[in-house]
Amino acid sequence: MTDSPTAPAATPTVAPPPTAIRPGQPRGPVTVPMLRARKRRAGAEPIVMLTAYDEPGARIADAGGVDAILVGDSVANNVLGYPDTLHVTIDDMVRHTAAVARARSAALVVGDMPWMSYHLSPDDAVSNAASLVRAGAGAVKLEGGLQRVPVVEAIVRAEIPVMGHVGLTPQSVLPMGGYRVQARDADGARSLIDSAHALEDAGCFALVLEGVPDVVAARVTDELEIPTIGIGAGPHCDGQVLVFHDLLGLGNGPVPKFVRQYAQLADVATQAIAAFAADVRSGAFPADAESYHGSDDLDRGLGVAGA
Ligand code: KIV
Repeated sequence: MTDSPTAPAATPTVAPPPTAIRPGQPRGPVTVPMLRARKRRAGAEPIVMLTAYDEPGARIADAGGVDAILVGDSVANNVLGYPDTLHVTIDDMVRHTAAVARARSAALVVGDMPWMSYHLSPDDAVSNAASLVRAGAGAVKLEGGLQRVPVVEAIVRAEIPVMGHVGLTPQSVLPMGGYRVQARDADGARSLIDSAHALEDAGCFALVLEGVPDVVAARVTDELEIPTIGIGAGPHCDGQVLVFHDLLGLGNGPVPKFVRQYAQLADVATQAIAAFAADVRSGAFPADAESYHGSDDLDRGLGVAGA
């Protein structure tokens, strides 16, 4: 976000509440109705969602106890090296959704519909949503407000659960003129709240709120019956989502203000690789214990000294 200065990484210190899923704890599959019921005002625990783009990432996220894994179109920036999410196609998303699904997580897998996969017609959108379901998604997510109502209705009619996404919608980077916090004035807030209601009425089972002031997210969360999941939307949502690479410190460059980094894995990985390179160059790797040895016969046959 252009107007979100980078904050220093905060240190997580808070222990999980007693009812939270513990990492590694066996659990049954998380379903859409289970997530749909997670309104905090009804006493439910906040929803935890994390992006993942491949089998190891999904396995790690699931072992960490998240409720939902979003195969985000942010695969574009985080994995494929593109400058924005406009570059990924439905084929890319199908491939990454299938890889995530192979982790067989208990967490619900949500497949993100990429730019131009739901903009042409409701029929085209249903067909692309079905491709994500066939790849292993239990629900799909798409960006946009009132203008998406016909498409959401069509996908829901096809029995595919839809998660909405309003506020800072990265696929709108061109008309937005950058990644900017949305709904900052009363008109913008009213229009976002109207969109949220329209998406709920169209059949969305949950709604991502991205890059909006906390008071706007609180109002939407209060007014909707479906859960809201925030990213850069403050603490009053019914759940929170972060990007895998941001949370784990695997990215490249500054992170937005709303990200809390719980680890610096890029540094850990770089140090490990540098140690490997140094060991190869010094002859310390591989050691005798890391090598296969021939039989005495082989040694004798090769005339190896000491056979
Ligand atoms: O693709 C993505 O990572 C997302 C989240 C930011 C919600 O849509």
